[in-house]
Amino acid sequence: MQHLLGAATGVLENNWKGTFTIPCEGLYPFQWNWDSGFIAIGWGHVKRERAYREIHSLLRGQWKNGFIPHIVFHNKADSYYPGPEVHASNLHDCSPDIPTSGITQPPVLGFVLEYLGEMARFDEAYMQFLEKIYDRIYQNIEYFYLNRDPQKEGLVYICHNWEAGTDNTPVWDFIWETFEVPEYRLNRKDTKLIDADHRPTNREYHYYIHLIELFKSWRYDDKLIAERSPFLVQDPLFNALLLRSAEGMINLGKRLGKTEMVSKLKSWYQNGSESFNLKLYDKELKAYVYYDLRNDRQLRHMSSSSFTPLFAGIPDKIKATELISHLDHGRFSGMNNENYLCASFDPASPYFNSKKYWRGPIWINLNWLIHEGLKRYGFTELAERLRSDTLNLIEKYGFYEYFEPSKALNKELTEAYGGKNFSWSAALTIDLLSQK
Ligand code: SER
Repeated sequence: MQHLLGAATGVLENNWKGTFTIPCEGLYPFQWNWDSGFIAIGWGHVKRERAYREIHSLLRGQWKNGFIPHIVFHNKADSYYPGPEVHASNLHDCSPDIPTSGITQPPVLGFVLEYLGEMARFDEAYMQFLEKIYDRIYQNIEYFYLNRDPQKEGLVYICHNWEAGTDNTPVWDFIWETFEVPEYRLNRKDTKLIDADHRPTNREYHYYIHLIELFKSWRYDDKLIAERSPFLVQDPLFNALLLRSAEGMINLGKRLGKTEMVSKLKSWYQNGSESFNLKLYDKELKAYVYYDLRNDRQLRHMSSSSFTPLFAGIPDKIKATELISHLDHGRFSGMNNENYLCASFDPASPYFNSKKYWRGPIWINLNWLIHEGLKRYGFTELAERLRSDTLNLIEKYGFYEYFEPSKALNKELTEAYGGKNFSWSAALTIDLLSQK
């Protein structure tokens, strides 16, 4: 498998644009928030200086209130919709001088910094880098608890499906049912670049754009969004990554002597983990699910996000054991382990679609998060299965964006799904290879 290292590094090199890495040529031609975090982990192994530049570049898009947008438009490109003119982040007083989007993505930087520190063995160059950016990452975590936790529960909301990262998971279908949207003139480029069957529908895009239009009409004001947005969800992946980032920042803050920040981070981590287990754990499904804050109800569906609390140390041993029952002769693996791990949506659900973006296919970043979570809890054999399933798929097809879970269907396929030469698939392959 070590031959994959050169190929993976080649993908990152091709997608490197001088100060940051695009996720995928054509399809995603700017800098994306959580992509950059995962990409930095890959660069950390092969050209560490680039990992630091990647993160500095992302922080050029940080707003004065600590918010980090999901896209930073450093450059011009006409192969992506919706571009900077649709997002119009300059409507908000805190936006920076560079165009960005006005929505965010799962906050990964806190734990990415910790991984990079371990790779660099906390050497001088790393510590200098950390000193420069620590407070800014802290402000980003603080932003969420100050602005997106209206009931002060320790769980923050997302207000757009693109904030989830899992853009079109079937879970959002149940949000779309709750309100109507007009039809917009869409200028989609994605469906011209890759198979439209692998991408969200136009109907879904009308919802995506409508939410952006609403937020713009409120000048991206957090208070108005919390009061009025029809999409207001406590998402298990987003909250797990926020807590894992807080934990990373606790460990790093101790090294820097940031006593006050560390104690604040500890209280967020503590409260957040407790509320997570009380509010988002579904005892019948034996899995973490979503909470629709706008309509005050649980959304009782399982996705690969349901397993990510393992990564943040949230479940106790009993819950952790219940969770993994779905991964071995269970709903996700199939009763005879007929699926590769880990489908992005419950394969036993009628809403599952193995080809369509976040409605079923395997994603490498989610596999990586689940792999790290399984290791954390000592489920070594299952972690190894996640790792080898991931590397086998990459070896067969290359660094695609997403992959078919069914072992039987994979026997017939010659290509995987979505974009090719996808940066985080390459970056996280590099990390998985380093672990043997
Ligand atoms: N991933 C989204 C898209 O498909 C944006 O974040 O365009």
